[in-house]
Amino acid sequence: MPATHATYGEAAEYESGADFYDDMVGDRTAHVAFYTSLVDAERTSVVDLACGTGSITVAMAAEAERRSPQGEHRICGIDGSRRMLARARALDPAIEWIHGDIRHVPPLEPFDLVTCCFHSLQAFDREGFALVLGSARRLLSTGGRLAFDIYRPDRSAIAAQSRTRIVRSYTDARGRSLVIHERSSFDVDADVYSLHWTLRDAHDGERDPRAEFHFRFWQHDPAFVDDAVRTAGFIVTERYGDLDRSRFDSSAKRQVVVCEAV
Ligand SMILES: C[S@@+](CC[C@H](N)C(=O)[O-])C[C@H]1O[C@@H](n2cnc3c(N)ncnc32)[C@H](O)[C@@H]1O
Repeated sequence: MPATHATYGEAAEYESGADFYDDMVGDRTAHVAFYTSLVDAERTSVVDLACGTGSITVAMAAEAERRSPQGEHRICGIDGSRRMLARARALDPAIEWIHGDIRHVPPLEPFDLVTCCFHSLQAFDREGFALVLGSARRLLSTGGRLAFDIYRPDRSAIAAQSRTRIVRSYTDARGRSLVIHERSSFDVDADVYSLHWTLRDAHDGERDPRAEFHFRFWQHDPAFVDDAVRTAGFIVTERYGDLDRSRFDSSAKRQVVVCEAV
């Protein structure tokens, strides 16, 4: 992971808006509840790939600390955006925050649990997806666990959704009234759903935006996910349709997958 790179892969998209990211994406209570539930007395060393600003990593760290009163827990977050990591570091300087490309993580001391939360794996095409799973496998011993969540492809719904809309209006901690505008489109040939988010002042929409994000979501079918997981050296042990552990079926919103390194 050469230190000369400012950002890696899709992480470049997050640099300029890092200070606004948490407010913009909003509530991640369901993610926090699911991922912290995987931290138990047997699994207190955790690495969070694409940890971003660390909201979920920090919650897992608190759970790991609670589960290992002797202090033998270890938490690490890896992300390709320095500015996202700076936010994470400010949240909890005691966690090991590493700047790097999650497709090419070198072997580190094995962890018990690897996570890749909040559909971060959808920032990668099939090749990148497989590389991230390869990194995850290198970070685990046999029996270690990998957990991730991505959306289940619903191509007709996202194709029909191509539009411009207001996602949300909110008041930030400094009392500013802000609005998130979204432009979305689905590139059928590339199989990529794109969302362009612009954050503007509610009362001064003509000003330059305060932040912009261009999210790209590659669509990964369950059959591809199964194959990629197996090829990387895992077996799927749990699969849910959402973070509340609801059943995975053809109407499921997400693919929430827990697998074991074999
Ligand atoms: C959707 S955000 C999720 C962040 C965090 N997991 C959360 O729950 O808020 C995706 C993150 O992936 C990071 N990222 C994208 N491509 C990356 C790469 N190749 N290597 C490391 N991080 C990457 C971005 O910087 C961003 O922080």
